[in-house]
Amino acid sequence: MASGRRGSSWTSVVAMTMVVVVASSVPGARGQLRMGFYAQSCPGVERMVGDFVRQHVRRVPTVAAALLRLHFHDCFVRGCDASVLLNSTAGSVAEKDAPPNLTLRGFDFVDRVKTLVEEACPGVVSCADVLALAARDAVAAIGGPSWRVPTGRRDGTVSSMQEALDEIPKPTMSFKELTDMFASKGLGVRDLVWLSGAHTIGIAHCSSFADRLYGYPGAGAGNDTTDPSLDAAYAVNLRRRKCRAPNGGYAEDAIVEMDPGSHLSFDLGYYRALLKHRCLLRSDAALLSDAAARADVESVVAGPEEVFFQLFARSMATLGAVQVKTGAEGEVRRNCAVVNSPSN
Ligand code: HEM
Ligand SMILES: *[C@@H]1O[C@H](CO)[C@@H](O)[C@H](O)[C@H]1NC(C)=O
Ligand SMILES: *[C@@H]1O[C@H](CO)[C@@H](O)[C@H](O)[C@H]1NC(C)=O
Ligand SMILES: *[C@@H]1O[C@H](CO)[C@@H](O)[C@H](O)[C@H]1NC(C)=O
Repeated sequence: MASGRRGSSWTSVVAMTMVVVVASSVPGARGQLRMGFYAQSCPGVERMVGDFVRQHVRRVPTVAAALLRLHFHDCFVRGCDASVLLNSTAGSVAEKDAPPNLTLRGFDFVDRVKTLVEEACPGVVSCADVLALAARDAVAAIGGPSWRVPTGRRDGTVSSMQEALDEIPKPTMSFKELTDMFASKGLGVRDLVWLSGAHTIGIAHCSSFADRLYGYPGAGAGNDTTDPSLDAAYAVNLRRRKCRAPNGGYAEDAIVEMDPGSHLSFDLGYYRALLKHRCLLRSDAALLSDAAARADVESVVAGPEEVFFQLFARSMATLGAVQVKTGAEGEVRRNCAVVNSPSN
Protein backbone atom coordinates (compact mmCIF):
# COMPACT_ATOMS: atom_id res chain seq x y z
CA MET A 1 0.00 0.00 0.00
CA ALA A 2 0.98 3.60 -0.43
CA SER A 3 0.56 4.38 3.22
CA GLY A 4 4.14 5.58 3.50
CA ARG A 5 3.32 8.63 1.45
CA ARG A 6 1.73 11.40 3.39
CA GLY A 7 0.15 14.64 2.22
CA SER A 8 -1.99 17.35 3.66
CA SER A 9 -3.91 18.79 0.75
CA TRP A 10 -6.66 16.90 -1.00
CA THR A 11 -4.73 17.12 -4.23
CA SER A 12 -2.11 14.89 -2.65
CA VAL A 13 -4.91 12.58 -1.55
CA VAL A 14 -6.00 12.38 -5.18
CA ALA A 15 -2.41 11.72 -6.24
CA MET A 16 -2.23 8.98 -3.62
CA THR A 17 -5.41 7.40 -5.01
CA MET A 18 -3.70 7.10 -8.35
CA VAL A 19 -0.64 5.51 -6.77
CA VAL A 20 -2.87 2.95 -5.09
CA VAL A 21 -4.74 2.25 -8.35
CA VAL A 22 -1.44 1.42 -10.01
CA ALA A 23 -0.17 -0.60 -7.05
CA SER A 24 -3.31 -2.71 -6.80
CA SER A 25 -3.10 -3.82 -10.42
CA VAL A 26 0.06 -5.76 -9.57
CA PRO A 27 -0.65 -9.42 -10.43
CA GLY A 28 -1.23 -11.62 -7.42
CA ALA A 29 -2.43 -8.78 -5.21
CA ARG A 30 -5.91 -10.35 -5.24
CA GLY A 31 -5.05 -14.03 -4.96
CA GLN A 32 -7.08 -15.88 -7.54
CA LEU A 33 -10.18 -13.78 -7.22
CA ARG A 34 -11.40 -12.48 -10.54
CA MET A 35 -14.16 -10.31 -11.90
CA GLY A 36 -17.20 -12.31 -13.00
CA PHE A 37 -15.99 -15.61 -11.52
CA TYR A 38 -19.55 -16.96 -11.81
CA ALA A 39 -20.20 -15.72 -15.36
CA GLN A 40 -20.48 -19.32 -16.64
CA SER A 41 -21.39 -21.26 -13.51
CA CYS A 42 -24.15 -18.94 -12.30
CA PRO A 43 -24.80 -16.21 -14.84
CA GLY A 44 -26.81 -13.30 -13.46
CA VAL A 45 -25.99 -14.01 -9.83
CA GLU A 46 -24.49 -10.57 -9.26
CA ARG A 47 -27.58 -8.91 -10.69
CA MET A 48 -29.79 -11.14 -8.56
CA VAL A 49 -27.94 -10.16 -5.37
CA GLY A 50 -27.93 -6.48 -6.36
CA ASP A 51 -31.64 -6.37 -7.17
CA PHE A 52 -32.60 -8.07 -3.91
CA VAL A 53 -30.34 -5.84 -1.84
CA ARG A 54 -31.53 -2.61 -3.51
CA GLN A 55 -35.16 -3.58 -3.03
CA HIS A 56 -34.68 -4.21 0.67
CA VAL A 57 -32.31 -1.38 1.44
CA ARG A 58 -34.86 1.03 0.01
CA ARG A 59 -37.33 -0.14 2.66
CA VAL A 60 -34.86 -0.82 5.50
CA PRO A 61 -31.80 1.37 4.94
CA THR A 62 -30.17 0.31 8.24
CA VAL A 63 -29.40 -3.03 6.57
CA ALA A 64 -26.50 -1.33 4.75
CA ALA A 65 -24.54 -0.66 7.94
CA ALA A 66 -25.22 -4.16 9.21
CA LEU A 67 -23.85 -5.78 6.03
CA LEU A 68 -20.82 -3.51 5.80
CA ARG A 69 -19.78 -4.30 9.37
CA LEU A 70 -20.40 -8.03 8.89
CA HIS A 71 -18.11 -8.04 5.85
CA PHE A 72 -15.39 -6.21 7.83
CA HIS A 73 -15.59 -8.62 10.76
CA ASP A 74 -15.57 -11.56 8.37
CA CYS A 75 -12.40 -10.39 6.63
CA PHE A 76 -10.52 -9.73 9.89
CA VAL A 77 -10.88 -13.29 11.18
CA ARG A 78 -9.40 -16.04 8.95
CA GLY A 79 -9.82 -13.80 5.90
CA CYS A 80 -13.05 -13.12 4.01
CA ASP A 81 -14.37 -16.67 4.23
CA ALA A 82 -17.81 -16.21 5.78
CA SER A 83 -16.57 -17.66 9.08
CA VAL A 84 -18.51 -14.85 10.76
CA LEU A 85 -21.75 -16.43 9.53
CA LEU A 86 -21.20 -19.87 11.10
CA ASN A 87 -23.23 -20.87 14.14
CA SER A 88 -21.60 -22.28 17.24
CA THR A 89 -21.55 -26.08 17.43
CA ALA A 90 -21.41 -28.51 20.31
CA GLY A 91 -17.63 -28.50 19.99
CA SER A 92 -16.86 -24.83 19.38
CA VAL A 93 -18.08 -21.35 20.16
CA ALA A 94 -18.29 -19.33 16.93
CA GLU A 95 -17.23 -15.75 16.11
CA LYS A 96 -20.91 -14.84 16.17
CA ASP A 97 -20.99 -15.49 19.89
CA ALA A 98 -17.93 -13.47 20.85
CA PRO A 99 -18.71 -10.27 22.73
CA PRO A 100 -18.05 -7.98 19.73
CA ASN A 101 -20.95 -10.02 18.27
CA LEU A 102 -23.48 -8.68 20.60
CA THR A 103 -24.04 -6.02 18.16
CA LEU A 104 -23.54 -7.64 14.77
CA ARG A 105 -26.73 -7.61 12.70
CA GLY A 106 -27.79 -8.79 9.28
CA PHE A 107 -27.28 -12.56 9.56
CA ASP A 108 -30.89 -13.25 8.57
CA PHE A 109 -30.58 -10.96 5.60
CA VAL A 110 -27.49 -12.74 4.26
CA ASP A 111 -29.27 -16.07 4.73
CA ARG A 112 -32.17 -14.80 2.63
CA VAL A 113 -29.89 -13.67 -0.18
CA LYS A 114 -28.07 -17.00 -0.06
CA THR A 115 -31.35 -18.96 -0.22
CA LEU A 116 -32.30 -17.07 -3.36
CA VAL A 117 -28.90 -17.75 -4.92
CA GLU A 118 -29.05 -21.44 -3.96
CA GLU A 119 -32.41 -21.79 -5.71
CA ALA A 120 -30.83 -20.53 -8.93
CA CYS A 121 -27.45 -22.28 -8.69
CA PRO A 122 -27.22 -24.89 -5.93
CA GLY A 123 -23.81 -25.26 -4.33
CA VAL A 124 -22.04 -22.81 -6.64
CA VAL A 125 -21.78 -19.36 -5.05
CA SER A 126 -19.93 -19.03 -1.75
CA CYS A 127 -21.34 -17.30 1.30
CA ALA A 128 -18.19 -15.16 1.42
CA ASP A 129 -18.91 -13.84 -2.08
CA VAL A 130 -22.59 -13.31 -1.28
CA LEU A 131 -21.58 -11.20 1.71
CA ALA A 132 -18.92 -9.23 -0.19
CA LEU A 133 -21.35 -8.46 -3.03
CA ALA A 134 -24.27 -7.65 -0.74
CA ALA A 135 -22.17 -5.26 1.39
CA ARG A 136 -20.98 -3.43 -1.72
CA ASP A 137 -24.47 -3.21 -3.24
CA ALA A 138 -26.04 -2.07 0.04
CA VAL A 139 -23.57 0.80 0.46
CA ALA A 140 -24.15 1.86 -3.15
CA ALA A 141 -27.91 1.62 -2.60
CA ILE A 142 -27.85 4.24 0.14
CA GLY A 143 -25.92 6.61 -2.11
CA GLY A 144 -22.40 5.59 -1.10
CA PRO A 145 -19.55 4.54 -3.36
CA SER A 146 -19.40 1.30 -5.26
CA TRP A 147 -16.28 -0.79 -5.79
CA ARG A 148 -15.11 -3.72 -7.84
CA VAL A 149 -15.71 -7.05 -6.14
CA PRO A 150 -13.78 -9.80 -7.86
CA THR A 151 -15.27 -13.15 -6.84
CA GLY A 152 -14.17 -16.73 -6.25
CA ARG A 153 -13.85 -16.65 -2.46
CA ARG A 154 -14.31 -20.04 -0.82
CA ASP A 155 -15.98 -20.53 2.54
CA GLY A 156 -14.05 -21.58 5.61
CA THR A 157 -15.10 -24.37 7.91
CA VAL A 158 -13.89 -22.95 11.20
CA SER A 159 -15.27 -20.11 13.29
CA SER A 160 -13.74 -19.29 16.64
CA MET A 161 -14.92 -16.92 19.30
CA GLN A 162 -11.40 -16.59 20.68
CA GLU A 163 -10.01 -15.55 17.29
CA ALA A 164 -12.71 -12.90 16.97
CA LEU A 165 -11.77 -11.58 20.40
CA ASP A 166 -8.11 -11.47 19.42
CA GLU A 167 -8.42 -10.08 15.91
CA ILE A 168 -11.36 -7.69 15.74
CA PRO A 169 -10.19 -4.19 16.69
CA LYS A 170 -11.65 -2.90 19.93
CA PRO A 171 -13.22 0.53 20.31
CA THR A 172 -10.86 1.27 23.20
CA MET A 173 -7.71 0.84 21.12
CA SER A 174 -5.05 3.48 20.53
CA PHE A 175 -3.86 4.58 17.10
CA LYS A 176 -0.79 2.35 17.42
CA GLU A 177 -2.83 -0.69 18.40
CA LEU A 178 -5.25 -0.07 15.53
CA THR A 179 -2.54 0.40 12.90
CA ASP A 180 -0.72 -2.71 14.16
CA MET A 181 -3.91 -4.70 13.88
CA PHE A 182 -4.60 -3.41 10.38
CA ALA A 183 -0.99 -4.09 9.36
CA SER A 184 -1.38 -7.71 10.47
CA LYS A 185 -4.08 -7.99 7.77
CA GLY A 186 -1.95 -6.28 5.15
CA LEU A 187 -3.82 -3.00 5.49
CA GLY A 188 -2.01 0.33 5.74
CA VAL A 189 -2.46 3.39 7.92
CA ARG A 190 -4.55 5.05 5.27
CA ASP A 191 -6.80 2.01 4.95
CA LEU A 192 -7.51 2.53 8.65
CA VAL A 193 -8.27 6.20 8.09
CA TRP A 194 -10.58 5.67 5.11
CA LEU A 195 -12.28 2.48 6.29
CA SER A 196 -13.12 4.14 9.60
CA GLY A 197 -15.25 6.37 7.38
CA ALA A 198 -17.70 3.44 7.40
CA HIS A 199 -18.84 4.93 10.69
CA THR A 200 -20.65 7.56 8.65
CA ILE A 201 -23.52 5.05 8.72
CA GLY A 202 -25.04 2.92 11.42
CA ILE A 203 -25.38 2.92 15.14
CA ALA A 204 -23.49 2.04 18.31
CA HIS A 205 -24.79 0.80 21.62
CA CYS A 206 -23.96 2.92 24.66
CA SER A 207 -22.00 -0.01 26.06
CA SER A 208 -19.49 0.45 23.19
CA PHE A 209 -18.40 3.89 24.38
CA ALA A 210 -19.58 4.11 28.00
CA ASP A 211 -15.99 4.16 29.23
CA ARG A 212 -15.65 7.63 27.69
CA LEU A 213 -18.67 9.00 29.53
CA TYR A 214 -18.48 7.72 33.05
CA GLY A 215 -15.56 7.95 35.38
CA TYR A 216 -12.95 8.29 32.68
CA PRO A 217 -10.35 6.91 33.01
CA GLY A 218 -11.66 4.09 35.11
CA ALA A 219 -12.67 6.22 38.08
CA GLY A 220 -15.77 4.09 38.70
CA ALA A 221 -19.52 4.27 38.20
CA GLY A 222 -21.19 7.51 39.12
CA ASN A 223 -18.09 9.52 38.40
CA ASP A 224 -18.87 12.28 35.95
CA THR A 225 -15.42 12.71 34.44
CA THR A 226 -15.46 12.20 30.68
CA ASP A 227 -12.82 11.48 28.07
CA PRO A 228 -11.22 14.86 27.33
CA SER A 229 -10.96 13.88 23.65
CA LEU A 230 -14.78 13.94 23.49
CA ASP A 231 -16.53 17.28 23.02
CA ALA A 232 -17.79 18.20 26.49
CA ALA A 233 -21.28 19.34 25.43
CA TYR A 234 -21.73 16.23 23.29
CA ALA A 235 -20.62 14.04 26.20
CA VAL A 236 -23.22 15.64 28.45
CA ASN A 237 -25.89 15.06 25.80
CA LEU A 238 -24.92 11.40 25.55
CA ARG A 239 -24.83 10.92 29.30
CA ARG A 240 -27.97 12.84 30.21
CA ARG A 241 -30.16 11.95 27.23
CA LYS A 242 -29.06 9.31 24.75
CA CYS A 243 -27.63 6.78 27.20
CA ARG A 244 -29.93 7.51 30.09
CA ALA A 245 -32.18 4.75 31.33
CA PRO A 246 -35.79 5.59 32.24
CA ASN A 247 -34.87 5.19 35.92
CA GLY A 248 -32.11 7.75 35.55
CA GLY A 249 -29.26 5.24 35.38
CA TYR A 250 -27.20 4.20 32.39
CA ALA A 251 -28.85 2.23 29.55
CA GLU A 252 -26.16 0.03 28.01
CA ASP A 253 -28.55 -1.17 25.30
CA ALA A 254 -29.56 2.30 24.14
CA ILE A 255 -28.42 3.06 20.61
CA VAL A 256 -26.88 6.22 19.24
CA GLU A 257 -26.26 7.21 15.64
CA MET A 258 -22.58 7.04 14.77
CA ASP A 259 -22.89 10.13 12.56
CA PRO A 260 -25.59 12.21 14.27
CA GLY A 261 -28.18 13.55 11.86
CA SER A 262 -27.02 11.56 8.84
CA HIS A 263 -26.48 7.97 9.96
CA LEU A 264 -28.37 6.68 6.94
CA SER A 265 -26.39 8.60 4.36
CA PHE A 266 -22.90 7.76 3.29
CA ASP A 267 -21.17 11.12 3.36
CA LEU A 268 -18.41 13.19 4.95
CA GLY A 269 -20.45 13.63 8.12
CA TYR A 270 -18.30 11.20 10.10
CA TYR A 271 -15.06 13.06 9.42
CA ARG A 272 -16.71 16.43 10.11
CA ALA A 273 -17.99 15.15 13.45
CA LEU A 274 -14.58 13.65 14.17
CA LEU A 275 -12.87 17.03 13.77
CA LYS A 276 -15.44 18.46 16.20
CA HIS A 277 -14.60 15.64 18.66
CA ARG A 278 -18.10 14.24 18.33
CA CYS A 279 -17.34 10.66 17.39
CA LEU A 280 -18.56 7.95 19.69
CA LEU A 281 -15.62 5.57 19.83
CA ARG A 282 -12.20 6.12 21.31
CA SER A 283 -10.86 4.35 18.20
CA ASP A 284 -12.44 7.10 16.08
CA ALA A 285 -10.92 9.86 18.18
CA ALA A 286 -7.58 8.04 17.97
CA LEU A 287 -7.31 9.01 14.29
CA LEU A 288 -6.72 12.59 15.39
CA SER A 289 -3.88 11.59 17.69
CA ASP A 290 -1.59 10.98 14.72
CA ALA A 291 -0.51 14.10 12.84
CA ALA A 292 -0.49 12.52 9.39
CA ALA A 293 -3.81 10.74 9.85
CA ARG A 294 -5.31 13.96 11.12
CA ALA A 295 -4.01 15.78 8.05
CA ASP A 296 -5.62 13.14 5.83
CA VAL A 297 -8.94 13.64 7.62
CA GLU A 298 -8.69 17.41 7.23
CA SER A 299 -7.94 17.06 3.51
CA VAL A 300 -10.81 14.75 2.79
CA VAL A 301 -13.27 16.94 4.70
CA ALA A 302 -12.37 19.81 2.39
CA GLY A 303 -14.07 17.73 -0.30
CA PRO A 304 -15.26 17.01 -2.85
CA GLU A 305 -17.05 13.98 -1.41
CA GLU A 306 -16.07 12.03 -4.51
CA VAL A 307 -12.47 11.91 -3.27
CA PHE A 308 -13.55 10.16 -0.07
CA PHE A 309 -15.70 7.78 -2.11
CA GLN A 310 -12.74 6.78 -4.27
CA LEU A 311 -10.43 6.30 -1.30
CA PHE A 312 -13.02 4.30 0.62
CA ALA A 313 -13.81 2.16 -2.42
CA ARG A 314 -10.13 1.41 -2.96
CA SER A 315 -9.62 0.36 0.65
CA MET A 316 -12.79 -1.77 0.57
CA ALA A 317 -11.44 -3.63 -2.44
CA THR A 318 -8.25 -4.31 -0.48
CA LEU A 319 -10.23 -5.38 2.61
CA GLY A 320 -12.34 -7.74 0.51
CA ALA A 321 -9.24 -9.63 -0.63
CA VAL A 322 -7.68 -10.18 2.80
CA GLN A 323 -6.45 -13.78 3.19
CA VAL A 324 -9.12 -15.14 0.87
CA LYS A 325 -9.41 -18.85 0.23
CA THR A 326 -9.62 -19.71 -3.46
CA GLY A 327 -9.44 -22.71 -5.77
CA ALA A 328 -9.74 -25.97 -3.88
CA GLU A 329 -9.42 -24.45 -0.42
CA GLY A 330 -12.45 -24.48 1.85
CA GLU A 331 -15.87 -25.21 0.37
CA VAL A 332 -19.00 -23.56 -0.97
CA ARG A 333 -21.32 -23.74 1.98
CA ARG A 334 -24.94 -24.49 1.14
CA ASN A 335 -26.25 -22.96 4.34
CA CYS A 336 -24.14 -20.07 5.56
CA ALA A 337 -24.69 -20.96 9.22
CA VAL A 338 -23.31 -24.52 9.04
CA VAL A 339 -20.46 -26.31 7.29
CA ASN A 340 -21.55 -28.77 4.59
CA SER A 341 -20.25 -31.80 6.37
CA PRO A 342 -19.58 -31.82 10.09
CA SER A 343 -16.48 -33.97 9.44
CA ASN A 344 -14.90 -31.07 7.52
C1 HEM B 1 -10.89 0.70 13.14
C2 HEM B 1 -11.38 -0.16 13.99
C3 HEM B 1 -12.84 -0.30 14.25
C4 HEM B 1 -13.41 -0.42 15.47
C5 HEM B 1 -12.68 -0.43 16.82
C6 HEM B 1 -14.83 -0.50 15.27
C7 HEM B 1 -15.75 -0.65 16.28
C8 HEM B 1 -17.11 -0.54 16.12
C9 HEM B 1 -18.06 -0.53 17.20
C10 HEM B 1 -17.73 -0.69 18.67
C11 HEM B 1 -19.27 -0.34 16.66
C12 HEM B 1 -20.59 -0.21 17.40
C13 HEM B 1 -21.23 -1.54 17.63
C14 HEM B 1 -22.44 -1.39 18.51
O1 HEM B 1 -22.27 -0.94 19.65
O2 HEM B 1 -23.56 -1.71 18.07
C15 HEM B 1 -19.10 -0.26 15.23
C16 HEM B 1 -20.12 -0.09 14.33
C17 HEM B 1 -19.95 -0.13 12.97
N1 HEM B 1 -18.78 -0.36 12.31
FE1 HEM B 1 -16.94 -0.32 13.11
N2 HEM B 1 -15.10 -0.43 13.93
C18 HEM B 1 -13.92 -0.33 13.27
C19 HEM B 1 -13.77 -0.30 11.90
C20 HEM B 1 -14.78 -0.50 11.01
C21 HEM B 1 -14.59 -0.80 9.61
C22 HEM B 1 -13.24 -0.97 8.93
C23 HEM B 1 -15.83 -0.93 9.06
C24 HEM B 1 -16.23 -1.25 7.67
C25 HEM B 1 -15.48 -1.04 6.61
C26 HEM B 1 -16.78 -0.68 10.13
C27 HEM B 1 -18.14 -0.63 9.96
C28 HEM B 1 -19.03 -0.38 10.97
C29 HEM B 1 -20.44 -0.11 10.75
C30 HEM B 1 -21.12 0.02 9.41
C31 HEM B 1 -21.03 0.03 12.01
C32 HEM B 1 -22.50 0.27 12.32
C33 HEM B 1 -23.15 -1.09 12.51
C34 HEM B 1 -24.66 -1.06 12.71
O3 HEM B 1 -25.31 -0.06 12.42
O4 HEM B 1 -25.16 -2.09 13.18
N3 HEM B 1 -16.11 -0.45 11.29
N4 HEM B 1 -17.78 -0.37 14.93
C1 LIG C 1 -28.09 -20.64 13.52
O1 LIG C 1 -28.39 -19.94 14.73
C2 LIG C 1 -29.54 -19.11 14.63
C3 LIG C 1 -29.62 -18.28 15.91
O2 LIG C 1 -29.39 -19.08 17.04
C4 LIG C 1 -30.76 -19.97 14.40
O3 LIG C 1 -31.92 -19.17 14.30
C5 LIG C 1 -30.55 -20.75 13.10
O4 LIG C 1 -31.64 -21.62 12.90
C6 LIG C 1 -29.26 -21.53 13.14
N1 LIG C 1 -29.05 -22.10 11.81
C7 LIG C 1 -28.80 -23.39 11.61
C8 LIG C 1 -28.69 -23.82 10.20
O5 LIG C 1 -28.63 -24.17 12.53
C1 LIG D 1 -22.83 -12.73 22.20
O1 LIG D 1 -21.91 -13.51 22.94
C2 LIG D 1 -22.25 -13.68 24.30
C3 LIG D 1 -21.15 -14.51 24.93
O2 LIG D 1 -19.97 -13.82 24.90
C4 LIG D 1 -23.60 -14.38 24.40
O3 LIG D 1 -23.97 -14.48 25.77
C5 LIG D 1 -24.65 -13.58 23.65
O4 LIG D 1 -25.87 -14.27 23.65
C6 LIG D 1 -24.21 -13.34 22.21
N1 LIG D 1 -25.17 -12.45 21.58
C7 LIG D 1 -25.72 -12.70 20.41
C8 LIG D 1 -26.66 -11.67 19.89
O5 LIG D 1 -25.46 -13.69 19.76
C1 LIG E 1 -13.70 10.96 39.49
O1 LIG E 1 -12.52 10.64 38.77
C2 LIG E 1 -11.51 11.62 38.84
C3 LIG E 1 -10.38 11.21 37.90
O2 LIG E 1 -9.99 9.90 38.15
C4 LIG E 1 -11.06 11.78 40.31
O3 LIG E 1 -10.07 12.78 40.41
C5 LIG E 1 -12.26 12.16 41.16
O4 LIG E 1 -11.90 12.19 42.50
C6 LIG E 1 -13.40 11.14 40.96
N1 LIG E 1 -14.61 11.63 41.64
C7 LIG E 1 -15.42 10.83 42.34
C8 LIG E 1 -16.63 11.46 42.92
O5 LIG E 1 -15.20 9.62 42.48
